[in-house]
Amino acid sequence: MSRPLAVICLAAGLGKRTKVSLPKVLLPLCGRTLAQSALLATAPLEPARVVVVLHHQKDKVQKALTESLAGTFGRLEFVDQGAPKGTGHAVQVAMQALADFRGDVLVVYGDCPLITTQTLYELCELRGDAPCSVLTAFPEDATGLGRILRDDDERFIGIREHKDCSDDELAIDEINAGFYCFDSEALRPALASLKPNNAQGELYLTDVVATFVQRGAEVPTLQAEDASEITGVNSLVDLALARALMQERILWEHLQNGVLIVDPSATWIDHGVTIGADTKILPGPVIGTGCAIGSHCEVGPFAHLRAGTVLEDGAEIGNFVEAKKTRMGAGAKAKHLTYLGDAVVGAKANIGAGTITANYDGVHKHETRIGARAFLGSGTVVVAPSEIGDDAMTGAGAIVKRGSKIGPREVWVGVPARLLKQRELAPAKEKA
Ligand code: UD1
Ligand code: MG
Repeated sequence: MSRPLAVICLAAGLGKRTKVSLPKVLLPLCGRTLAQSALLATAPLEPARVVVVLHHQKDKVQKALTESLAGTFGRLEFVDQGAPKGTGHAVQVAMQALADFRGDVLVVYGDCPLITTQTLYELCELRGDAPCSVLTAFPEDATGLGRILRDDDERFIGIREHKDCSDDELAIDEINAGFYCFDSEALRPALASLKPNNAQGELYLTDVVATFVQRGAEVPTLQAEDASEITGVNSLVDLALARALMQERILWEHLQNGVLIVDPSATWIDHGVTIGADTKILPGPVIGTGCAIGSHCEVGPFAHLRAGTVLEDGAEIGNFVEAKKTRMGAGAKAKHLTYLGDAVVGAKANIGAGTITANYDGVHKHETRIGARAFLGSGTVVVAPSEIGDDAMTGAGAIVKRGSKIGPREVWVGVPARLLKQRELAPAKEKA
């Protein structure tokens, strides 16, 4: 982009309409928070400055954003709006932090997580020499949203908030998406002249846009190609709708990469999951951020993969299996009713139905190491930390006591498990 860019993200509101105690901008959406998603869309535009406006539960929001966006932006700046008096007031406060900045000011609302970088890029390009450009859309349901006002020649003249609309204005189906690119030098004086002339007694950012038109400028508008991009979250119903849209985006990307998702309507995969081609995902899985799944794997039905889980190529996780921070070696299998926590499972190991790694002693989590080609009998409980060697075997229902070291090829049985014998291995089969 030709001009320096500053991003302002508005995240100070209480989110009263959600009726939950968590700040609205921290509501979860496929492994990210709402504000994190909105900010991530701006990252590829390489903003020189990023200012986040906070107030309600500001320490919590600041901590969450700082942690989740570390490494994405050079530096995030946080400003406290004080008691929030509207979106215009929030931008006034942000512009104090940007007093020495000249260039494009891109304003995004922290409750609009589905916006894409491409649309934001086009919005900034569209501004040209105008004081501002505005993103609009034609959603199926405009309830609660600001309506776009146009003159007889279809020129943009302003934005009217739902609560301030006449009946005729409520019938307008073009709405304000909540994304604007301003010329910093035009924005500053326009903000200074804002007045709370509306039903809510707030300073509306939307009124700033109208003042440019009143002073004779043309304000170009960009219509979002896909109305789902502008989905704002004001209630938990909105959140559920936004989640479905975001989930669809994530799944489409995996499908395009050759991941066989049998039923996308019954599959939960967060952001930040890698999956290799030719892997099959059966219905009902929940796969969290930070999982890495190789090629030719199989997951599900009804499996739960949590952060830090790695499936090497050809590994299989079946029904009612939960894996947390667990590495399954190539071709290893855990097909039924199992919990693997903090476990390292060797290649081609077979984890029998109902196996549990008891990784938590109430204070600390401990690791379980299971060797290559090991065979755990159904209902084995391995109390961690423990080690099971390559080609070792446990009998059905074995309880492997904490601190056990089962040697290679040893067969252990019983409660607690004891050494029974050394295992005879069949000669490796030749592949046809
Ligand atoms: C806003 C727009 C509306 C648009 C809609 C799109 C205004 C006046 N209205 O309405 O035209 O159709 O978004 O989703 O801008 N915030 C602050 N400080 C404040 C008030 C709000 O930081 O004083 C933040 C909120 O945390 C939120 C964002 O700004 O992330 C938008 O505020 P919200 O109250 O949700 O505005 P809407 O009613 O959705
Ligand atoms: Mg909103």
